[in-house]
Amino acid sequence: MNALNDQISRRRTFAIISHPDAGKTTLTEKLLLFGGAIQLAGAVKARGQQRRAHSDWMKVERERGISVASSVMTFAFENNIFNLLDTPGHEDFSEDTYRTLTAVDSAVMVLDAAKGIEIQTRKLFEVCRLRDMPIVTFINKMDRDSRDPFDLLDEVEQTLALDVTPASWPIGMGREFLGCYDLFNDRLVLIQKGAREGLPEVNESCNGLDDPKLEKLLPVHALEKLREEVGMARGLCKPFDEKAFLEGHLTPVYFGSAINNFGVSELLSGVSQMAPSPRSQPTAKRLVKPAETKVSGFVFKIQANMNPKHRDRIAFVRICSGHFKRGMKLKHSRSGKIMNVHNPVLFLAQDRELAEEAWPGDIIGIPNHGVLRIGDGLSEGEGLRFTGIPSFAPEHLQNVRPEDPLRAKHLGRALQQLAEEGAASVFKPIIGADWIVGAVGPLQFEVMADRIRTEFDVPVHFEPTGLYVARWIEADDQLLMKEFIDTNKTAIADDHDGAPVYLARNAWHLDRGAEDWPNIRFLKTKDYVE
Ligand code: G4P
Repeated sequence: MNALNDQISRRRTFAIISHPDAGKTTLTEKLLLFGGAIQLAGAVKARGQQRRAHSDWMKVERERGISVASSVMTFAFENNIFNLLDTPGHEDFSEDTYRTLTAVDSAVMVLDAAKGIEIQTRKLFEVCRLRDMPIVTFINKMDRDSRDPFDLLDEVEQTLALDVTPASWPIGMGREFLGCYDLFNDRLVLIQKGAREGLPEVNESCNGLDDPKLEKLLPVHALEKLREEVGMARGLCKPFDEKAFLEGHLTPVYFGSAINNFGVSELLSGVSQMAPSPRSQPTAKRLVKPAETKVSGFVFKIQANMNPKHRDRIAFVRICSGHFKRGMKLKHSRSGKIMNVHNPVLFLAQDRELAEEAWPGDIIGIPNHGVLRIGDGLSEGEGLRFTGIPSFAPEHLQNVRPEDPLRAKHLGRALQQLAEEGAASVFKPIIGADWIVGAVGPLQFEVMADRIRTEFDVPVHFEPTGLYVARWIEADDQLLMKEFIDTNKTAIADDHDGAPVYLARNAWHLDRGAEDWPNIRFLKTKDYVE
């Protein structure tokens, strides 16, 4: 195998999807601990707090106790390299999450064992389904009173229309939770009570569930129940099928307790062995395969002011093909210009360092002053335009005005930057002087007001508009498009890229527009292509 193929086969680029509070942060921390990337559990949170303390604009985040920014963590396990892309959990920032999911090859879905599938789990799952993404499920908090495992498996199967295969089976729950039987590897793994940093105390390979060894290791009633339940589960659930898993139709399910480090190494082994290496990525012209020797990648996220002292922005680029080396010259798809990538960064669990090289599936950060935008492609020579990185029509629209009218121009610049980062949608109506800002959730306005004040020194206020939704408009016939725009001038605005948008006052107004103009397309999403 050549070096490129070898590196590709070792990469696992994934994200964790979950409803807030299911235990994503705890599990992330434990994955890093097992991956040897951090010494001390707790480092993820501690580092988060440190970073928050440095950066003023994250005040809102701190006050609300939610994580707005997302990041990348790289660690190794079983000779494989894992890139874990963190996603903000709060629903108001789901747009960012959606885009992050375009940059991963698989996902771990974390459920709270007492709650099962929750609203946010479902929404995120739907995004994964759009891309037929393989999903490994981790049912967390088995150390608490939980729902019956059959009930949980059934819920996953019914509500998500996804086949399930238990990868491990829990022995008891709550205070009686003893551990799990690893069904894929025939091992008994028992929890070490009260030792949060420790490893399980029993980890025994068995010769199936009839192994007499089990009688010494488990209380009689627990063993009986385990044998009975596993027998039933095997009868009820489909066996693991690699193809169905890789196509996103079947999920292996692990049970555990992240806070007790329990089930985490089994989960990690599962991801290591089952999850796919980097997939091919679609572009406007063709599919790009990871093993192509020419380097390519796309920007899926922009983060401003990671270092508040410099007004820098970091573009997060997923490498899609080839062996990237520092100092490479890559063609920027939108401008057609050549960029010399001389100071890319790699994100290690605790630090950032200069990336001397990167392989398909890896994420590099490219500091820049606004040249790179979400959806932009970078490639050796070809100028590839990647597709499928969406922008979502906002559900909430507000007017924004500077408190000092003389700062209107500054406000315009700030809004343009926020829109380019993907932090909000910004619309300029073709009639009138106000800006309209669109968000997926209302909390985004507060974060924006805070950022515009602290980063751009423009105190602003947001005000409700009488507007209902925004839809991008398109038509094959440009004359028809012009006619539509001329007829509906008061409801038309341009987005930050100059693409026309229809601002509907209410549901009726939107339906009416669509009925009267059947050849105009009203779009909820806009692909980030230039
Ligand atoms: P999130 O990122 O998905 O929002 O969840 P997070 O890891 O922050 O976990 C949410 C709460 O659930 C935390 O408690 C965490 O300690 C707890 N938790 C996570 N995994 C387990 C588990 O396996 N068992 C039990 N019993 N609890 C678990 P908290 O009180 O909100 O925060 P903290 O003070 O413990 O940090």
